[in-house]
Amino acid sequence: MIPVTCRIGLQVSFLLLLIGQTHGRVTAPARLKAPVDKPFTLTCTLSKDRGETLREVRWLDDKNQTLLSYQPGNRDSVSGQQHVELATSPKDSSAITIRRVGFRDEGCYTCIFELSPSGSKQGQTCLTVDAEVTSERNKTAVSGKKASLSCSFGLPEKVQQILWKHTPAQGESTEVASFAKRSDPMIEPAYQGRVWLSASLSDSQLTIQPVAIQDEGCYTCFYETHSEGTKSSVVCLSTYGKCLLFKFAFTRRHKRFNNATLGQNVCFPVFYQVPGIEKIIFAIKM
Ligand SMILES: *[C@@H]1O[C@H](CO)[C@@H](O)[C@H](O)[C@H]1NC(C)=O
Ligand SMILES: *[C@@H]1O[C@H](CO)[C@@H](O)[C@H](O)[C@H]1NC(C)=O
Ligand SMILES: *[C@@H]1O[C@H](CO)[C@@H](O)[C@H](O)[C@H]1NC(C)=O
Repeated sequence: MIPVTCRIGLQVSFLLLLIGQTHGRVTAPARLKAPVDKPFTLTCTLSKDRGETLREVRWLDDKNQTLLSYQPGNRDSVSGQQHVELATSPKDSSAITIRRVGFRDEGCYTCIFELSPSGSKQGQTCLTVDAEVTSERNKTAVSGKKASLSCSFGLPEKVQQILWKHTPAQGESTEVASFAKRSDPMIEPAYQGRVWLSASLSDSQLTIQPVAIQDEGCYTCFYETHSEGTKSSVVCLSTYGKCLLFKFAFTRRHKRFNNATLGQNVCFPVFYQVPGIEKIIFAIKM
């Protein structure tokens, strides 16, 4: 039998121990999004008790492997892996920078502050790597020739399927082509034989050859991912037919237009008309 006074004593010291542990705390954002291919900095902040000394700081990756460790105030003590570096941070905090964020950097990071005499305190931040779909600027193509439209996404590891849709100026959107992981590009029947899609989950290129006038409109590339939903971008295509180029010369003397030259040319369906000047050029879309 433990005497009553001794039991109370044990309980009190246990309580003190608990309070002691809640004092020195580490705060870190629970979740963060980091854009792919850019540097990203993770920070943990320590609130330590008076009389405590910070001996060492360690950062662990998702597999609990040491990414970086150092003794505060000692520059030469920094040791760690190539793709992370120690960032400058205010006193009693620690920051590391991932030099160029990639898919493999996704996961939870632990910062551990070794304090003397109280032991270690730790915090954790979970990182999600994020990217946006980008597309080229709008394109123009001549009927009968080739047009290539492309989109890109920096996290092919997250992509399940890419889908391209065509939206004409008037009318409904229609599916053109798609490419899913572990399969071949699929071309919708209406486009077979003149549309191709690259077999890539990052840089997707839709090629149309020969281009038809009705291919004009906007094309949306949808990247369906398993964790980030569907991301998309739009690229628009203008098509031009072959034109007959007429060059008329207005002669004052005859007070009429003189059909000076006729040539077949590739041109934009616009009128070049300069009032008061003797030459007017018409471009007629065929
Ligand atoms: C890392 O360590 C923590 C406890 O310190 C443990 O809960 C976790 O499962 C470990 N993770 C791995 C991947 O070993
Ligand atoms: C592309 O064309 C569409 C439709 O013509 C237009 O709304 C959009 O602003 C253009 N984008 C760029 C980047 O020029
Ligand atoms: C211009 O000349 C071409 C042949 O040279 C002819 O086919 C065309 O009809 C003429 N156009 C006009 C407006 O006279």
